[in-house]
Amino acid sequence: MTAFSHAPVLLEPTLALLALAPGMTAVDCTVGGGGHARRILEAILPGGRLIGIDQDQRALAAAEDALRPVGAGHYRLVYSNFARLRAILRENDCPPPQAILLDLGVSAYQLTEGGRGFSYQQEGPLDMRMDPGRQEITAAALVNQGTERDLAGIFWRYGEERWSERIAQFIGAERKKAPIETTSQLTTVIKKAIPAGARATGHHPAKRVFQALRIAVNGEVELLEQALRDAAAALAVDGRLAVITFHSLEDRIVKKTFQSLATGCICPKDLPACVCGRRPVGRILTPKPIVPDEAETRANPRSRSGKLRGFRKTAGENQDGR
Ligand SMILES: C[S@@+](CC[C@H](N)C(=O)[O-])C[C@H]1O[C@@H](n2cnc3c(N)ncnc32)[C@H](O)[C@@H]1O
Ligand SMILES: [Zn+2]
Repeated sequence: MTAFSHAPVLLEPTLALLALAPGMTAVDCTVGGGGHARRILEAILPGGRLIGIDQDQRALAAAEDALRPVGAGHYRLVYSNFARLRAILRENDCPPPQAILLDLGVSAYQLTEGGRGFSYQQEGPLDMRMDPGRQEITAAALVNQGTERDLAGIFWRYGEERWSERIAQFIGAERKKAPIETTSQLTTVIKKAIPAGARATGHHPAKRVFQALRIAVNGEVELLEQALRDAAAALAVDGRLAVITFHSLEDRIVKKTFQSLATGCICPKDLPACVCGRRPVGRILTPKPIVPDEAETRANPRSRSGKLRGFRKTAGENQDGR
């Protein structure tokens, strides 16, 4: 076991949903430590080809170790943001894939690796960049330089934190004394800001704010809808897209985007004929998200908030005709 290895979440349902077979081309947009990718590669050999993308170079090194024994020469790992999916496929002369996976968020490794600031449970600088080589804005920069209003907005939108304004005010007061630069400093401020009586909700009081800052630092939400549309467009006809999310905001975006991709004509009912010309790109495979069973949540508590949704492409063209 390398430090990167962790139990891939919803592994079996994801493999089933992707309906993999030998010879297929597959793309894992969030290859991480290669947990899912390893099993995907096994399922598409002989003859298959896998592209694994991650914006964290350390994750790619771990994925390389996981994949090499399975099928050297049958995969390629790409250091990039999955927002560049279509360009990546072009640059690698990749035919339209039959399977695409996004397993969103941070890996267990990123969370536990000290020094990156993703977790309130690990002391470290407030960094939170998934790609420190290319990103400039850290969580510390947001916390110390953002206006209280901006911070409250981030905590509310990306963390659904009901004490967002109070926490932002407390941060504003605290940083006047000294900059807030570490995970423990921030956690202390959050604990002070949330009234004791409101803290008994089961979650760690800092969980939502840390999640919100991570999403903001990495632009995770802005990317997602477009990435899903690009993935659907890139798929081969009959190809499948599987997406695993870990918080409700992301799950909502996946649900809505899949609904939109599965919707045809949107003309007003009283028009005699369709003028919008919109056609569905495919069908939703999961009317409700698939969630981990009890055995999985027991074995891997991180899986608890995981939700899997799937989409199957049916039409040859994209909704906007591309
Ligand atoms: C939950 S982990 C994936 C774990 C992987 N499925 C496994 O089984 O080992 C998510 C990974 O996606 C990467 N990631 C998140 N957002 C990304 C993006 N926009 N572009 C590329 N990689 C991203 C993270 O660096 C992280 O390694
Ligand atoms: Zn229409």
